[in-house]
This record gives sequence, structure tokens and C-alpha cells, in this order.
Amino acid sequence: MEHKKIVIPSLSFFQDELKGEGVVKSRRTLGELAGIFENQDAYSQLPLDQLAYEVYSYLPEREGTPGGLYFGITQLYPGKVGDEYFMTKGHFHTILDTGEVYYCLSGHGYMLLESPEGDWSLQEMTPGEAVYVPKRYAHRSINIGDTPLVTFFVFRGDAGHDYGTIETKGYRNL
Ligand code: F6R
Ligand code: ZN
Repeated sequence: MEHKKIVIPSLSFFQDELKGEGVVKSRRTLGELAGIFENQDAYSQLPLDQLAYEVYSYLPEREGTPGGLYFGITQLYPGKVGDEYFMTKGHFHTILDTGEVYYCLSGHGYMLLESPEGDWSLQEMTPGEAVYVPKRYAHRSINIGDTPLVTFFVFRGDAGHDYGTIETKGYRNL
């Protein structure tokens, strides 16, 4: 039987970015965050094409493949909409029984967690601190500093993302 040598790509964290073959970069502008900020007047005065965050993801398995891990870096830029700080859209995982680890590389912020039953928690994120997102909890990062909030994340690769529940119901307890 022939044994093939497997190829493990080399990946590097450099200047708050994840680099390497197979790393996918995505971004969200303020225009893509419609409806998450309270102050609609303040929101409507900001440019829709302003960058709110960028995500570098290493996705070694095809979406839905069991047993793999997805990981990467999110850079959430500083800024405010009225009195509210820039935040990520926030999501549950489609497979609700999915935990996720966030590790803060730089900046200062919070992770807002909420379960479908409405149990919630706000966890501070400072460099060197990790936040464990328990399974079943929606998660949203908030940058309260004046530099990018940079976090490393890792979760099961078949988890999928459910944005719709937050879009329609929002975070109910804050
Ligand atoms: C993946 C995860 C992070 C976020 C990223 C952007 O499960 O939690 O990679 O996807 O911080 O936030 P969202 O996805 O809410 O726009
Ligand atoms: Zn997640």
C-alpha cells in the first residue's frame, strides 16, 4: 500500500493578520451592520462603506465536514455610532452545541454572550486573556478602545453560522 506524505500548510500570525495559503479574508462595512445600532440617526450619518471589521479565516475543511477546526483573527476597528461602540454582527452557530475560544491579542473590548433562553454575560477582553464561549451562546465582540480589538478564534469547522436569529430578535437583555 502506498503512503502519501501529507502537506501541512505553513501559517503565520504577523502584524495582527493571519497569512498563508488557504486563508480567506472577509470584511464587514457599517452598511452591512444595519439594524444593530440603537441610534438610527447617528447610523445614517456615517458612510456605509466605512470598514467596521476584517476577518482572516483558515478553513482547512469544506464547510460541514465533521472533525475539523476553523480558526483565524478578527480585527474590529475602533469607532462609535452615537453612544455605542463598533461591534460585530453577532451570531449563534447553526450547530448550537458549539463552543468557541477567543484569545485577545490586542485592544480592549467585551464579548457579549446570550443563550436562546436569555441568559447572558459580558466578558472583558484584554490582551493575553482568553474568553471561552460556551456552547449554545450567541457571541458578539464590542471594541471599547481607540485601537483595533484583535482576537484569535477557533471553533469546530462544521458549526455553521446563524445570523438570522440575532437579526430578527436581537440581543434581548441589553
Ligand atoms: C466565528 C466567529 C468569529 C466571527 C467574527 C466576525 O464563529 O465567531 O470569527 O465570525 O469575529 O463576527 P460575525 O461573524 O458575528 O460577523
Ligand atoms: Zn462564532
